Amino acid sequence: MNSQKIALLASGTGSNALNIISFFKENKNVNVEFVLSNKISAPIVESAQKLGINVLTCSNSEVESASFLLDICKEKQIDYIILAGFLRKIPAKLIEYYPEKIINIHPALLPNYGGEGMYGKFVHLEVMKNREIETGITVHFVDSEYDKGKIIAQFKCDLTENESLESIQAKIHELEMANFPRVIGEVLKR
Ligand code: GAR
Repeated sequence: MNSQKIALLASGTGSNALNIISFFKENKNVNVEFVLSNKISAPIVESAQKLGINVLTCSNSEVESASFLLDICKEKQIDYIILAGFLRKIPAKLIEYYPEKIINIHPALLPNYGGEGMYGKFVHLEVMKNREIETGITVHFVDSEYDKGKIIAQFKCDLTENESLESIQAKIHELEMANFPRVIGEVLKR
């Protein structure tokens, strides 16, 4: 069997992207072809370069253009695209070409706390404001609406009355590190 080629898209720190790179490092059936970031100054750019991963950067208008990402992914014969903290909307053309092949991680239990503007700490602040007793992460396929694609897996954690933004971030981070790469691996084996 040919190895499956994955592209990682990330906009920030990239702890998820790095964790995925490390998870598949010794796996001959899965190859991280490149990391693409829409922010040249994002920490993930330097960290992935240091690991010898091919890193591409682009502008937000390139991301928005109908065929920029599609052309790169076709050229590199990408099988799956993983959004690992990628905060731009994915163009419809890419979604049409890759149905159920684009996977996103969202730091809440969708359908709650999703949609435009709901990312990173903004999600956790809303969760805190509403005094939720649990939160979690959702791994889902990307379709044309923000955070509305088919859910692949969810993982929960309990919240106490005294949570801070930092403590919620830490719980979410732990769930993401423990589960996201493993779930990707299961999808790739289907
Ligand atoms: C992660 O918590 C991820 O779930 C979230 O951004 C963070 C990126 O962290 N994604 C979203 O909010 C998408 N709506 P990282 O750069 O360290 O991987």
